[in-house]
Amino acid sequence: MKRAKRLSNGLRLERFKTPAEALSRLPRLGCGRAQGSGTMDIETNKIAGAVLSTLLVVLGLNMIAGIVFAPHKPVVPGFELPSEEPAAAAGAAAPVADEPIAVRLAKADPAKGEKAVGACKACHTFEKGGANKVGPHLFDVYGRNEGSVAGFGYSAAMKGRNDKTWDADGLDHFIKNPKAYVPGTIMAFAGIGKPDTRADVIAYLNTLSDAPKPLPKP
Ligand code: HEC
Repeated sequence: MKRAKRLSNGLRLERFKTPAEALSRLPRLGCGRAQGSGTMDIETNKIAGAVLSTLLVVLGLNMIAGIVFAPHKPVVPGFELPSEEPAAAAGAAAPVADEPIAVRLAKADPAKGEKAVGACKACHTFEKGGANKVGPHLFDVYGRNEGSVAGFGYSAAMKGRNDKTWDADGLDHFIKNPKAYVPGTIMAFAGIGKPDTRADVIAYLNTLSDAPKPLPKP
């Protein structure tokens, strides 16, 4: 007769000749309750200890990260967008009247204006024979009739101003706030808030001509 037989679950079933033999095997089989549960307690403690220390490490790292990468909270909540006019926000509380355009033009710099029109180039071309894009080409715009580029689909508001010409004053107001100056315009541009930058742009626009016109004098 075989002394042991393997059960389907992998345990070995042993047969003993006498109950005494069976008893003598008990400790070796690890059936002592006390020993078994004692091992369990230590294991549970170890696991609990591991979980707690992990939590501590995570909390500690969190605190250190909070100190190292202290978030920079803006005074005014929101996103900071690149703006050409930091002065506009600061001066908003006490609005100061712009200097007359003729005074600003006297000290304007067309080279600075050329840089500033980078903001317009998504929609306008500036060179002679330049194409119309989202907006009409702006070569020779100074002194040109408003809304007069053939083949460009102006808004009704701009077409309605066809009897006027773009002079320094009109351009200054239009570029400052297109929608305020020409209500109904389709020029989707917020405007240039800095008065001196607008003068630079107008001085530059006036150079875009075969025969630049005299700018107003203060
Ligand atoms: C998002 C596109 C866009 C940007 C950016 C833009 N414009 Fe325009 N612009 C237009 C459109 C569209 C019109 C035609 C407006 C209408 O018909 O109401 C226009 C018209 C004009 C006109 C009148 C032209 C004419 O023939 O009467 C001037 C001047 C002008 N823009 C200057 C500027 C300047 C200077 C800038 C940059 C500081 C600028 N625009 C930026 C789209 C734009």
